[in-house]
Amino acid sequence: MTKKKLRSQDWYGRTGKDGFIYRSWMKNQGLPHHLFEGEKPVIGICNTWSELTPCNAHFKELAESLKKGIWEAGGFPLEFPVMSLGECSIKPTAMLFRNLMSMDVEESIRGNPLDGVVLMCGCDKTTPSLVMGAASVDIPSIVLSGGPMLVGRFKGKKIGTSDIWRFAEDFKMGRLSQEEFIEAEAAMSRSVGHCAPMGTASTMAAMVESLGLSLPDNATIPAADSRRKVLAHMTGIRIVEMVKEDIKMSSILTRKAFENSIMVNAAVGGSTNFILHLTAIAKRIGVELDLTDFDYFSSKIPLIANVQPSGEHWVEDLFYAGGLPAVMREIEKHLHRDALTVNGKTIGENISNAECWDRNLIGTLENPIKPDSGIAVLKGNLCPNGAVLKPSAATPELLTHTGRAVVFENIDEYKAMVDDPDLDIDETCIMVMKNVGPKGYPGMPEVGNMGLPKKVLEKGFKDMIRISDGRMSGTGFGTVVLHVSPESAIGGPLAFVQNGDMIALDVPNRSLNLLISEEEFANRRKDFIPTKLPYERGYVNLFLDKVNQAHEGVDFDFLQGSSGSEVKRDSH
Ligand code: FES
Repeated sequence: MTKKKLRSQDWYGRTGKDGFIYRSWMKNQGLPHHLFEGEKPVIGICNTWSELTPCNAHFKELAESLKKGIWEAGGFPLEFPVMSLGECSIKPTAMLFRNLMSMDVEESIRGNPLDGVVLMCGCDKTTPSLVMGAASVDIPSIVLSGGPMLVGRFKGKKIGTSDIWRFAEDFKMGRLSQEEFIEAEAAMSRSVGHCAPMGTASTMAAMVESLGLSLPDNATIPAADSRRKVLAHMTGIRIVEMVKEDIKMSSILTRKAFENSIMVNAAVGGSTNFILHLTAIAKRIGVELDLTDFDYFSSKIPLIANVQPSGEHWVEDLFYAGGLPAVMREIEKHLHRDALTVNGKTIGENISNAECWDRNLIGTLENPIKPDSGIAVLKGNLCPNGAVLKPSAATPELLTHTGRAVVFENIDEYKAMVDDPDLDIDETCIMVMKNVGPKGYPGMPEVGNMGLPKKVLEKGFKDMIRISDGRMSGTGFGTVVLHVSPESAIGGPLAFVQNGDMIALDVPNRSLNLLISEEEFANRRKDFIPTKLPYERGYVNLFLDKVNQAHEGVDFDFLQGSSGSEVKRDSH
């Protein structure tokens, strides 16, 4: 059998001037000639390290463990930076730049002499960006996540990101002083790693593990645990083998893998952002997936992992209880056991020996943590292309409710009015926010779980129905309808809701309707003018022009589909 020529030899294996140029400058890093002779696969380490992305700030050190594994397996590691997105820092919202970052990743991989790539993912958007970009190139790729933070401690209690919402309400109500508030900040973020609950970062890490894109346990080993470095070392070894075995992303990312991931997301109570990102990844790699798949495949799966925000504990605790393999084993009869993963084994083989060490953390199908989980996909005259709700984070009594709409035309109006004592609102009303969808507020910010009015909080109520075309943080909770599509800014039905309208939410029957007649709808539509935002240049202008709607993954239309790893023209 003849050995397949390495892709990197299209650069380093050249003779004459071209080969000289491709190799010579690399040698200024002290690299000996034999590394370029085609025996060692060149492995790119796509690093999202940045001090502005604190969740990924330990990635330089983690990359060193990766390199040890790559060298050990006979590979040649080359680390390169790509754009990084710190969810907690970047304005107006990291999601605005997910597609931009994925383009950086795609072209950095395609344009360089790489045979395989390790994707170093952590903070929320850094995972989908890297996976989307790499999927569009489709060379052997493996994910290494950064791992969750250690759980914080404050006033004798365990805390993590999902407590921010509670702290904010306590502060608003005077139950927490300014000094205590600041003390809680340091107590919450006490170690390296991404958010401690099953927020979007850990949801994404669970997504890649359940898709088969990472080694087992990638989702839950804490960032500060030395076993995270061991995982990095083993990931380095494995990517070299993957190149030799020619296991590309498209071999892993099959329809079965996506269905598995939807079921696992339900089992862990993952973030609603999962829907947008998984949809975008599927469209990049060419797998058919639509919103109804999320409801169908997650409807059979109850909440198995007792992790916040749907449960009580933290991702760190989940690792000690057996990690994601133990959760997956509990739902094994529903999973496609034969789906291939990056270690060359199937999902079924990877979880066959997984054990649960703590039934407080990991339930069973017969005795789950909560019976309802996953994603409810709603349809109706308010959301013809769908809207989503996370039942495990909602108040059961509110899942079927008809209430009077209190409308905020945009986020600024909400902020100005929500605590106004004259606002005509009570706990039975339905809060509606417009113009926070992909185009209405470029990037679709995480404001869907808008805080409740002070006068409702003062009565002791903790939840109300909230509806918007925006997103919600993976650490958020409540009876919150999100991703209403089409969005209000382009004339979706949400644009026509008025104060005082009645809205009927019926989650068991998957419906969301505005109780007005067709004639009234048509009347209100007549004078509609799409929102025109003041972005005349630059990336945001491109975003507004090319972004698709929530039910399509909020990707750019021209990025869908893989264009492969071939470089059409040489540089010299
Ligand atoms: Fe980075 Fe939460 S802010 S994962």
